[in-house]
Amino acid sequence: MKVRNLLVLLAAVVLLALAAVLLLPPPAADHLEFPDDAKTLATGEYLVTAGGCISCHRGIDDETAFSGGLKLETDFGAFHVPNITPDEETGIGGWSAGEFVRAMKHGRGPSGEFHFPAFPYRSYAGLADADALAMGAWLMALEPVRYQAPPHETPWWLWRPLMAGWNLLAGFHSPPAEEFDSALVERGAYLARNLGHCGECHTPRNALGIAIGAREFGGGTEFGGAVVEAIDQAAMEEWSFDSFDLFLLIGLKPDGEFVGGDMNDVIESNTSRLTDEDRDALAAFFTRHRQEQ
Ligand code: HEC
Ligand code: HEC
Repeated sequence: MKVRNLLVLLAAVVLLALAAVLLLPPPAADHLEFPDDAKTLATGEYLVTAGGCISCHRGIDDETAFSGGLKLETDFGAFHVPNITPDEETGIGGWSAGEFVRAMKHGRGPSGEFHFPAFPYRSYAGLADADALAMGAWLMALEPVRYQAPPHETPWWLWRPLMAGWNLLAGFHSPPAEEFDSALVERGAYLARNLGHCGECHTPRNALGIAIGAREFGGGTEFGGAVVEAIDQAAMEEWSFDSFDLFLLIGLKPDGEFVGGDMNDVIESNTSRLTDEDRDALAAFFTRHRQEQ
């Protein structure tokens, strides 16, 4: 057993005790309802794109998009991404609006079970309820696809209830709250931190896999070892607003190189499909300290 796994195990035992005390009932969201007007559904489709859901809930082809199928290899085992089309048995067809929002923002399933953070619900926690509902409404209107993801291949000690303790610890590592003078930068922060979950890859994690908020966007390591560059203030010194904007559109960096790796998929399936305004917002957020000078 790797030292890191042992540490995790020890922490897990302690956390289980903590969790037993803190096992709160999942937050109530029963009053929520899915909107069903065409305008909100269109917004939902756009937000699902901006949320990068397709990167993981891929499906096998266009017909089966969002039915899962991707296997995420991590230090904590392999996670099979589930079906989020509205199939009653294998997808989320039976879910209420409240159940959907609770999963997105709190990582809790319909019967209160804990999700694993391989699903980036910590990032999505900051979503506005209205946005989460619009996304859910659009997903619920998709053609149901029948596909049952295989069970996750996780180590024996990785129990869902431990995530109560993990969530609690992760809460202590949240980045400090920030106030913005500009609505554009504020929108950019929402897209970067919440919907676009840039920090899931670009923020370093501790041994428990918790993103360290104090070093937000400070660069990470992908499971498997590939380095993910920092995109924080210091790292973006050479990047102008325009160069960041162009990067989000076509993946071209200021040094004339095209980006590779998983970022290619982020650009293709997510940032290149944003409205000009939302791409500007992300660029404004990441280069804001330069504009303030
Ligand atoms: C980095 C990969 C990743 C991304 C991006 C992602 N998900 Fe997931 N999602 C997962 C994994 C893995 C699970 C399973 C978690 C578990 O079993 O606890 C999951 C679970 C879910 C569930 C619960 C399904 C169930 O049957 O319990 C919902 C709902 C969901 N995702 C919706 C979304 C939406 C909407 C988006 C985009 C805004 C999204 N996900 C983006 C990986 C991802
Ligand atoms: C799934 C993981 C993942 C997500 C999510 C992600 N990135 Fe990346 N990003 C990468 C990887 C990996 C690289 C390095 C790619 C390479 O090797 O060329 C990268 C590179 C970059 C670079 C180039 C940095 C440099 O100095 O070369 C920028 C800028 C960037 N990402 C911005 C973002 C923004 C903004 C978001 C959110 C909208 C985001 N990334 C979301 C994985 C990710």
